Amino acid sequence: GAAQPVIVAIDGPSGTGKSSTSKAVAAQLGLSYLDTGAQYRAITWWMVTNGIDIDDPTAIAAVAGKPEIVSGTDPNAPTITVDGTDVSAPIRTQEVTSKVSAVSAVPEVRARITELQRSIAAGAENGIVVEGRDIGTTVLPDADLKIFLTASPEARAARRSGELKGADLHSTREALLKRDAADSSRKTSPLAKADDAVEVDTTDLTLAQVIECVVTLVEEKRAGK
Ligand code: DC
Repeated sequence: GAAQPVIVAIDGPSGTGKSSTSKAVAAQLGLSYLDTGAQYRAITWWMVTNGIDIDDPTAIAAVAGKPEIVSGTDPNAPTITVDGTDVSAPIRTQEVTSKVSAVSAVPEVRARITELQRSIAAGAENGIVVEGRDIGTTVLPDADLKIFLTASPEARAARRSGELKGADLHSTREALLKRDAADSSRKTSPLAKADDAVEVDTTDLTLAQVIECVVTLVEEKRAGK
């Protein structure tokens, strides 16, 4: 019969190659794909667009249930909409990036988005690769395989400024470390490695090597089932 659906959780800070790796692994293995950072960015975009005070957690909590966020889970063409509007581009602006940590620290926001993530994972027939910060620890603690990607701050800043085309390396590094510190120190499900996660340091690996490493780990898990 058909293989059991496999649930893969990939966590880690920004600039470790999480999104590129997760998409490629899902595409290679015929799995669905979910970018949970995009969901936090989408709710942040909605807050900004609707003039909600980002420095007021109570105001954020009060409206956390309002926007309808829909994620498409095809790894070859991931999509995200808020109340029917495609927000794939506006969620990547510097304004949203600088505000997403504050919004995603609000417990009501996390509860809402976590519920959405669990229902998407449960509905993925062949299984899914879910990438984020708290997937292995909180969202899907029973995932079949948990990966925690790391890289040196220098490597992460270099990759991120490469993506941002021409962004200044020093300020990119500062902004990235600041966001990671906020994401790691928040009270509700911070960025953390699950005890049973496999840590992969990507500093000296090419993207192709990281993808191969994760694909092999998934295949080993499947064979062992
Ligand atoms: O992966 P990303 O850079 O697009 O994530 C954007 C922000 O969303 C990140 O700074 C913290 C938040 N986030 C989170 O709190 N929990 C997740 N599972 C994923 C992202």
